Amino acid sequence: MLSRFGFTNFGRRFVHSQLQPRVDIMLPPGTFSDRVALITGGGTGLGKAMATTISRLGATVALLSRKLDILQKTAEEISSETGNKVLALQADVRNPDAVKSAIDTCVSDVGLPSIVINNAAGNFISPTQRLSANAFKTIVDIVLLGTANVILDVGKRLINSRQGASFLAITTTYTNFGSGFVVPSAAAKSGVEALTMSLASEWGRYGMRFNAIAPGPIQTKGAFSRLDPTGKWSKQVLHRIPTGRLGQPLEIANLAAYLVSDYASWITGEIVTFDGGELPFSAGEFNHLTEVTDQEWDELEAMIRNVKGS
Ligand code: HXC
Ligand code: NAP
Repeated sequence: MLSRFGFTNFGRRFVHSQLQPRVDIMLPPGTFSDRVALITGGGTGLGKAMATTISRLGATVALLSRKLDILQKTAEEISSETGNKVLALQADVRNPDAVKSAIDTCVSDVGLPSIVINNAAGNFISPTQRLSANAFKTIVDIVLLGTANVILDVGKRLINSRQGASFLAITTTYTNFGSGFVVPSAAAKSGVEALTMSLASEWGRYGMRFNAIAPGPIQTKGAFSRLDPTGKWSKQVLHRIPTGRLGQPLEIANLAAYLVSDYASWITGEIVTFDGGELPFSAGEFNHLTEVTDQEWDELEAMIRNVKGS
């Protein structure tokens, strides 16, 4: 029986079995052996995954966020696995003085970073009319101004010391067309992308590159507890992802490592969408027809062929 486009066929779209990818570290050992990498929000989630990969590839890593106990635990975990130094720096990215003091410590302990990943973020779903001015400001302060505080502080030091660097920001795919219910995040992440492209142009002459990764959903406690408290969205979203699965932390870590490495030294001002195809799938008017079965297509085709006149 024809489902009459009722989408009763969710989950049947994948005609081939979906293989989980085998993901290993992509770049050669020692890629970052002479590098210091600063990663905000590096104690948890995607930041932790990127920190682990970059440390495995030889870098000295500095993790920066608010919760020192979590940072120290992650730093110990990573350095005991990789044998490379990992520093824990406590700072709230909203506070430029705290950022300055953390970078002072980084410089005196391990040196000025030549890799900076602005990954720290705040976000939660909410109807916009329920947000106070402070709620809106909190997200914009963490995401946009926090990123600017880190870039301004490290960037000025790099210019003064005539040292180049590679900056990477982690944004989202809804910078393209916005998204309801995460409006402060959409506005702030779009600002981060504008910052990325602007500084790629302005500071390229100082040997600095600026890129961003715009990921689709990758399961982390920090994100999913605030965006999907019931667990419904992360199941439904699979129907919009042509690759049929969520992303994996090591996949974004490999892409991030590549973009901040010298192998990507001609890539700057670029926003790399990393979403298993969700964005173009969601934009395509008729992509929902992937849910229609062969039998339903027989019926639909017969109906269309039977049309007489205009
Ligand atoms: C409405 C809320 C709220 C909620 C907080 N507020 N939660 N308003 N609904 N659910 C309001 C508060 O009442 C307060 O306003 C203001 O926001 C600040 O809240 P605080 O709790 O004081 O802020 P703070 O302690 O600084 O914590 C910031 C936070 C928190 C963003 C609210 O969730 C946090 O620390 N998050 C960090 C980690 C995180 O968010 N990770 C997810 C990133 S995922 P008033 O007016 O009462 O003072 C992501 C991916 C998206 O970005 C893409 C996925 C595909
Ligand atoms: P997460 O684990 O919650 O990471 C957010 C990190 O930001 C935490 O480590 C947090 O550490 C830090 N942070 C928050 N506020 C801060 C502040 N004021 N100052 C300093 N650090 C702060 O979530 P995640 O999923 O890994 O997210 C990482 C990045 O990926 C974010 O930019 C997010 O927007 C982006 N992203 C995630 C997804 C996804 O599906 N997971 C999709 C698209 C984009 P403290 O609490 O210690 O401060």
